[in-house]
Amino acid sequence: MRGRLLQWLHIMMYAAILVRIESVYVNITYVQDAVAKGAVCLDGSPPAYHFDSGYGTGVNSWLIQLEGGGWCNNVTSCLARKGNRLGSSKKMVKLLPFSGLLGNKAGFNPDFYNWNRVKVRYCDGSSFTGDVEAVNPATGLHYRGARVFLAVVKDLLAKGLKSAENAMLSGCSAGGLAVILHCDNFKNLLPIGTKVKCLSDAGFFINTKDVSGAQHIEAYFNDIVTTHGSAKNLPPSCALRMKPSLCFFPQYSARGIRTPLFLLNAAYDSWQIKNILAPAVADPRGLWHGCEANIHNCSSIQLKIMQAFRSEFIGTINGLGLSISRGLFINSCYAHCQTEMQETWFRSDSPKLNNKTIAKAVGDWFYDRSPFQRGDCPYPCDRTCHNRVFDPQEHPLI
Ligand SMILES: *[C@@H]1O[C@H](CO)[C@@H](O)[C@H](O)[C@H]1NC(C)=O
Ligand SMILES: *[C@@H]1O[C@H](CO)[C@@H](O)[C@H](O)[C@H]1NC(C)=O
Ligand SMILES: *[C@@H]1O[C@H](CO)[C@@H](O)[C@H](O)[C@H]1NC(C)=O
Ligand SMILES: *[C@@H]1O[C@H](CO)[C@@H](O)[C@H](O)[C@H]1NC(C)=O
Repeated sequence: MRGRLLQWLHIMMYAAILVRIESVYVNITYVQDAVAKGAVCLDGSPPAYHFDSGYGTGVNSWLIQLEGGGWCNNVTSCLARKGNRLGSSKKMVKLLPFSGLLGNKAGFNPDFYNWNRVKVRYCDGSSFTGDVEAVNPATGLHYRGARVFLAVVKDLLAKGLKSAENAMLSGCSAGGLAVILHCDNFKNLLPIGTKVKCLSDAGFFINTKDVSGAQHIEAYFNDIVTTHGSAKNLPPSCALRMKPSLCFFPQYSARGIRTPLFLLNAAYDSWQIKNILAPAVADPRGLWHGCEANIHNCSSIQLKIMQAFRSEFIGTINGLGLSISRGLFINSCYAHCQTEMQETWFRSDSPKLNNKTIAKAVGDWFYDRSPFQRGDCPYPCDRTCHNRVFDPQEHPLI
């Protein structure tokens, strides 16, 4: 009995140590000065980030990671956000674990571990694009995402980013989309001599029909752009060519971006399958719930629809045209966000394309050791995937 208990304690201690060394907890910094510029979260509170200093050879290199977390598309959904961490820095936890791309050990994060690493909290609901001057006194909602982005970068410039040799803007999901939309802005805020690149993880949301044939995501993105007054902050090379709200889609806006951009995305992005291909409104009977919870449970008809989605996804990426500086890691996995978790970023069993982990592909691309533009064959052929499995009860609305 005692032996068993000791053994169990040993295992627990070992697990605790593993978690501890894989990630480091980093304290929050509030950007108080931003409030005077009106650069605030939905509720008017100051923006925030978590900063871990670089050291050794990384002391003049900066990684700025933008947090994700969906969007709010109208007053109702923005009011709901205002009361939680995605709309208010008053509701954010103070210590955040940094792991994967943000990890601070060479063994877990070979190319970026000793950089200055920053995680910018997301509290505007517009992928950092909003800018509406007026604040409705009845709702108290501030739509100021673009101002938050600018205020945070300026704050970091003063803390040393202005003398960066290397800088990478990264982010996942809504943060990955913000990376694409702000990539050139970020480059323009830095000195000419800085090597600047952008890494978008799971930020390539495609404009396609849902399973009922409706343009659900197009209408939803249009609502975001309208609510937040985002049009003027979307890449001008796109916004001059077409309806500005369409420029929220990377397929239209990424083409004109001049700064080197790495697109990392699962071809069956689990968020996109759940919210773009088969959202609740298009699947009132819940026929997709089991398949969305676990790709192994998709029927052959559903898999066929998902294969068509993957083909369209890849076609959309190819539609961007050739660019030598672009990085591509498009794996046939059922996943969403693969940079911030150790298991998908860099571990012996992590996802690989052409025998390279995401960490190695991104590092080689950033440092110009070798380009990387790879995809693979359709599900289930990629044995290195970490396919997401969700609780079938949980079906969050978009
Ligand atoms: C974290 O930062 C906050 C405010 O910036 C400060 O009040 C708090 O003491 C810090 N906590 C730790 C554990 O350093
Ligand atoms: C606001 O958007 C949500 C989806 O996020 C939708 O369900 C709701 O009907 C919208 N409300 C209004 C008033 O348009
Ligand atoms: C997958 O299907 C199996 C058998 O039909 C079922 O037991 C399981 O609960 C399903 N899993 C999910 C996540 O839907
Ligand atoms: C794959 O990469 C690993 C580590 O970089 C190497 O040891 C192995 O030989 C490679 N395998 C193939 C098939 O290239």
